[in-house]
Amino acid sequence: MQNVTDLPFMRVIARRGGPDWFVTEFFRVHPASKPDRYILRSIRENTTGIPIFAQIIGSDAEAMVKEAKILLRENIAGIDLNLGCPSPTVCGKSAGGGLLRHPEEINRMIGMLRDSIHTRFTVKTRVGYADESEFTKLLEIFRSHAIDGLTIHGRTVADRYQTPVRPQCVAAAVATLPCPVIANGNVVNATAGIRYQALTGASGLMIGRGAIRNPWIFDQLRARFLGETPTQPRAHDLLDYIEDLYAELARESKEYHELHHIQRMKKTMLYIVQGLGDEFEQAMRRMRTEEEFFHLCRSSLDHDALIPDVPPEQSKLFCGFTELLTSP
Ligand SMILES: Cc1cc2nc3c(=O)[nH]c(=O)nc-3n(C[C@H](O)[C@H](O)[C@H](O)COP(=O)(O)O)c2cc1C
Repeated sequence: MQNVTDLPFMRVIARRGGPDWFVTEFFRVHPASKPDRYILRSIRENTTGIPIFAQIIGSDAEAMVKEAKILLRENIAGIDLNLGCPSPTVCGKSAGGGLLRHPEEINRMIGMLRDSIHTRFTVKTRVGYADESEFTKLLEIFRSHAIDGLTIHGRTVADRYQTPVRPQCVAAAVATLPCPVIANGNVVNATAGIRYQALTGASGLMIGRGAIRNPWIFDQLRARFLGETPTQPRAHDLLDYIEDLYAELARESKEYHELHHIQRMKKTMLYIVQGLGDEFEQAMRRMRTEEEFFHLCRSSLDHDALIPDVPPEQSKLFCGFTELLTSP
């Protein structure tokens, strides 16, 4: 996830179990681009032992092939094509989710990438641009190119991040495609993940925001799939996670600038504080110094209580997940 799941974040997540695969933040590709050096570091200095896919986003098929070939020289698990980003700037350039309006261009781009990538080549998509009825045509294209995996964020681009996901679309992909299908969107806790998988028959789950709030979610899911009882993190575990992330991010900065660092931490903290009360969130937004930051975190989290399993529904960053939790 752009500006969040960078190298320091991956290290911290891996210490808490981590996923089976990472995906980099997206490399923006255009005819004159070279792979972003900061994102490249998350591949070159990935010592977590967890394989990583390099994700690319762009609208120029020739440039995408060129960049993919450069990235293939790195130690990656494969290349992932982003067809999901809903940012108006990205979509305006017919990249990411914007490409979903141009199925013929997707067809050409995937064909060219497939011919050039002799290792795993996967696609991350939404279920349409404006409407899920577009998905049937997209699935035909994906099926015709022997991709190695499809991750589906079960929303349209128009849905952005706020609505419930559409498990029926993921199930349709599972029924149509010979490759593994990964379900994504709204997995806020292990129960949501178990339900999403059961509703869709997906081979796996991709987790974004839920893993920022709860980095133990991958281990919790592994336990649940094995029929075991997962451990529930406590407030002091969360404090330890925040301290770890703060230190890792500081270690990566060329120059430690206190205010910049606090601003960077706040981007991640906004996910972490969901469910810890409005007062904590408001106070976090006001933080300007390291001392204030740690005083707030330690005074709020240096205890043994369990942290809430789910964030509040309809919070700013998490909404629409209740349907997954309450599905039969
Ligand atoms: C801040 C932010 C940055 C994101 N960056 C990326 C990205 O670089 N590549 C990508 O495939 N998805 C990106 N996403 C989308 C997520 O991967 C995911 O598809 C979406 O948030 C839904 O899943 P979740 O509910 O588990 O977060 C981003 C989402 C957010 C909120």
